Amino acid sequence: MKIGFIGYGSMAEALASRWVGHHDIVIGGRNVDKARALAEQLGHNTHWGREPDAVVDIDVVVLATTHQSVFEAMDAAGGPSAFDGRTLIDINNPVPGAFDGEFLNSNYDGLSLAEKIAGYAANAQVVKAFNMCQASVWKMQPPVFDGRKLVVLHCGGDEAATARAVELIELFGCDHVDIGELKYARLLEAAASIVIKLLFSGRDPHTVLNLIQPEVKVR
Ligand SMILES: NC(=O)c1ccc[n+]([C@@H]2O[C@H](COP(=O)([O-])OP(=O)(O)OC[C@H]3O[C@@H](n4cnc5c(N)ncnc54)[C@H](OP(=O)(O)O)[C@@H]3O)[C@@H](O)[C@H]2O)c1
Repeated sequence: MKIGFIGYGSMAEALASRWVGHHDIVIGGRNVDKARALAEQLGHNTHWGREPDAVVDIDVVVLATTHQSVFEAMDAAGGPSAFDGRTLIDINNPVPGAFDGEFLNSNYDGLSLAEKIAGYAANAQVVKAFNMCQASVWKMQPPVFDGRKLVVLHCGGDEAATARAVELIELFGCDHVDIGELKYARLLEAAASIVIKLLFSGRDPHTVLNLIQPEVKVR
């Protein structure tokens, strides 16, 4: 696969580090020097450029700017039609007030950011994934906690795009659970807000999210 990243920050670095060597990577963004620095750090003939370079002739585009700049960055990449036929992985958590103690995630007329992205790039196949854990978790090799593999939740609804996302999740050595159509990104974004609140308040999310599998009775 050819994977383009729009953005070269912590998440781009963490995700691309795991996929490089398995797939062709292009790092693109508004500052070519920063894109080049990450590409050179990644090695394996990783290419770099501006936003369009992360989209043209690319199979999977990862939207890895700040959540506030997603649409500006997509405009810079060439606008809605530039994403036609692409698998678009939305990793963003729209929690604009986190540093001010406000953890409610933004919604977009009742929709998630992922759905808003799908509305913008109508001929792309959007998958929400990788938003539930911080960059340092994606740098773990592999992400295993108390002997248990990390389970990556994702949603989207398009079969081919989901298969690509699953292939990329598996490169982390993680399990994966498809929680359904893209509308379930509303839950993933809200769930990430809770996780972020726990992390910002110094609480260990493990102590909150440990659950016991109920006995399922078949009627
Ligand atoms: N960090 C995490 O642990 C984590 C975990 C899960 C999800 N996420 C989500 O992943 C996304 C990326 O997070 P991150 O931690 O990787 O961010 P980051 O390290 O702060 O990097 C932000 C990236 O966005 C670019 N950017 C900022 N404003 C821009 C604009 N107006 N136009 C174009 N590009 C712009 C930055 O480029 P410049 O350097 O040129 O400003 C940089 O490449 C966020 O939406 C976040 O919610 C983060």
